[in-house]
Amino acid sequence: MTQARPVGLLVEDAVAVIRIGSPPVNALSAAVRSGLLDALAAATADPAVRAVVLAAEGRTFIAGADIGEFGKPPVPPTLSDVVDAFERSAKPVVAAIDGAALGGGLELALACHGRVAGPKARLGLPEVKLGLVPGAGGTQRLPRLIGAAVALPLIAQGTTLGPADALRLGMVDEVTGDDALPAARRRALALAAPPPRSRDRDGLGSHEDFEAAATALGKQAAGNPAVQGCIDCVAAAFSKPFDEALAFERQTFRRLMEDARSKALRHVFFAERAAAQVPGLPAGTAARPVASAAVVGAGTMGGGIAMVFSNAGIPVTVIETSQEALDRGLERVRANYDTSVRRGSLSAEERDRRLARIQGQIGLDAAVEADVVVEAAFEELGLKREIFGTLDRVAKPGALLASNTSYLDIDSMAAATARPGDVLGMHFFSPANVMKLLEVVRGAQTTPEALATAVELGRRLGKQPVVVGACHGFVGNRMLARRTAQAERLLLEGAAPEEVDAALVEFGFRMGQFAMIDLAGLDIGWRVRKATGKKAPVADALCEAGRIGQKVGRGYYRYSDGARQGEPDPEVHTLIECIAGEQGIARRAIGRQEIIERLIFPMIDEGARILEEGIAARPGDIDVVWLHGYGWPAWRGGPMYHAGVLGAASVARALEGHAARSGDSTLRPSDALSRMAAA
Ligand code: 3HC
Repeated sequence: MTQARPVGLLVEDAVAVIRIGSPPVNALSAAVRSGLLDALAAATADPAVRAVVLAAEGRTFIAGADIGEFGKPPVPPTLSDVVDAFERSAKPVVAAIDGAALGGGLELALACHGRVAGPKARLGLPEVKLGLVPGAGGTQRLPRLIGAAVALPLIAQGTTLGPADALRLGMVDEVTGDDALPAARRRALALAAPPPRSRDRDGLGSHEDFEAAATALGKQAAGNPAVQGCIDCVAAAFSKPFDEALAFERQTFRRLMEDARSKALRHVFFAERAAAQVPGLPAGTAARPVASAAVVGAGTMGGGIAMVFSNAGIPVTVIETSQEALDRGLERVRANYDTSVRRGSLSAEERDRRLARIQGQIGLDAAVEADVVVEAAFEELGLKREIFGTLDRVAKPGALLASNTSYLDIDSMAAATARPGDVLGMHFFSPANVMKLLEVVRGAQTTPEALATAVELGRRLGKQPVVVGACHGFVGNRMLARRTAQAERLLLEGAAPEEVDAALVEFGFRMGQFAMIDLAGLDIGWRVRKATGKKAPVADALCEAGRIGQKVGRGYYRYSDGARQGEPDPEVHTLIECIAGEQGIARRAIGRQEIIERLIFPMIDEGARILEEGIAARPGDIDVVWLHGYGWPAWRGGPMYHAGVLGAASVARALEGHAARSGDSTLRPSDALSRMAAA
């Protein structure tokens, strides 16, 4: 039952239970903080109370500070005031941790005099993922409790632990098989008085070990002020008296709060959660249950998607047209799992369970039992329409009929069925079993139930679903097409593939444009261009020369002896110069700033159009697509967030400049971007 007040107090058998009830996740808002202080004061003043238990309602214990308050003027009492009051309490306090105790939630629990964890407890200090350090004593109390060398990587990587690990490390005193509250009561009563506050350095362990742990984080700390901040704060536990180290931690927290990276990461946090909410769904729209799946096509994507279903515990039938294609596809799936077993990320038993959930069948009749069918056949509209027509005849009523197409017309596929309301796009990203993004493409006739089912299923599959409208390339690939066109253009105007890629990597992408195309294979884009009559002179010439990417050892780069990292290839340079010469383009040296602006700003321009057309519901949705589908660096918030930081007007101005200089009229800002700039 939810309380009207965010913090309740109930005294029973000499124990006062302070219970937070502040949905959805019991974040430590101003109201919760003052409620906690009031409840503690009342419990302390009550002569009938011998001990106190801190508990919470719902699935989470405490998710941490209220992130929604960040960047706003602070409202007293501060979280540090609350943590301090609990630690100083004259009566012993034990935390009953059922669910997540994260960030400030764990910091408050660390200030209690005992901790009991239930089976669903998750403990961690994830502040670093928001570009911050823990700000309420976490960098001082956790190292004293479990040793600095063990605590540091947990803090600097934002690791979350389950109850067994937390117990092993000494973060909690006890783990229960069920509700933690009764054990916490017993434990609190058993403490005659709060133990003396630990202020000395005994618990920190060896300084040498800490130094080694800090050195191991060196690479992650370079260029990441939050990771460096975590190291500095834990180091302060050794070098400064407790109160001074606390003050240093708070100061570091406040400094990082103003850092551009932290602001971007906080935007990402809320954008990811907003993206999971589908605008315009009638209240109470329920997702249909999904207990089994079918995937049409055993190619790289189809096999990967089958793995995604199986990994989530959903039995899946992979359907092919020939035994040979099926065997090849299933063999690839098995090889993928074997690799995971070899690397130690999957046990052999779990591999066998996952493989057992994947069946192969010939012919679409095998889709008859499936609650959801994902078509992942060749990218050819006629073929897909044919498949949907057959699925319409064989699939059971109410089955979700999804296409994994990256470009093609969902409405045309829907029109091949007598149940267009059940048809939509579920666009996975390659490799499907790794990439988190799922574009859920809403067709003109897709019903709210079908949409809700796909979004809910996406979450169950461990993906980040983003609902997008139907158009060529949807959100991600439509924007990528603009970047790809400019990348090609930059080559002709004077940049080398490795220069273009280096600029993107310096910007923060894990991989450059051309390394990415080499990995995916140039033949994919070539096929699309041939079908649509489009041209990309450099890419086309590479394909004609058989340089279709990493799989043949040659693409924009050269891959000697199966290497994954390509080397610049003089042959490619010559080819580019040749084409530029034929086209009468005078090549020149192009700086990194220009490269980045010409790659990123047209994407922002396309994003503005996508928003105006309603293909994406929110700028944050576009950001989430790029973060989870294309490796946009999280600390830069996403392309539309980036536009906001730079100002849409300055993006538009820069595009005008580049259009004039290069003579490429496609660089001119669209009306949509101009309107965004004016707003
Ligand atoms: N503050 C404010 N809102 C929060 C929040 C927080 N700390 N944590 C979650 N929420 C909100 C979400 O925005 C979402 O809101 P919405 O329904 O309006 O979209 C809602 O709670 C539910 O969140 P999820 O969808 O993420 O729910 P899950 O059940 O999937 O996950 C969770 C729950 C594991 C607690 C997850 O929400 C989470 O990881 N939260 C953030 C934890 C965190 O980063 N804590 C550190 C905060 S910083 C801090 O404590 C500073 C301190 O050191 C001083």
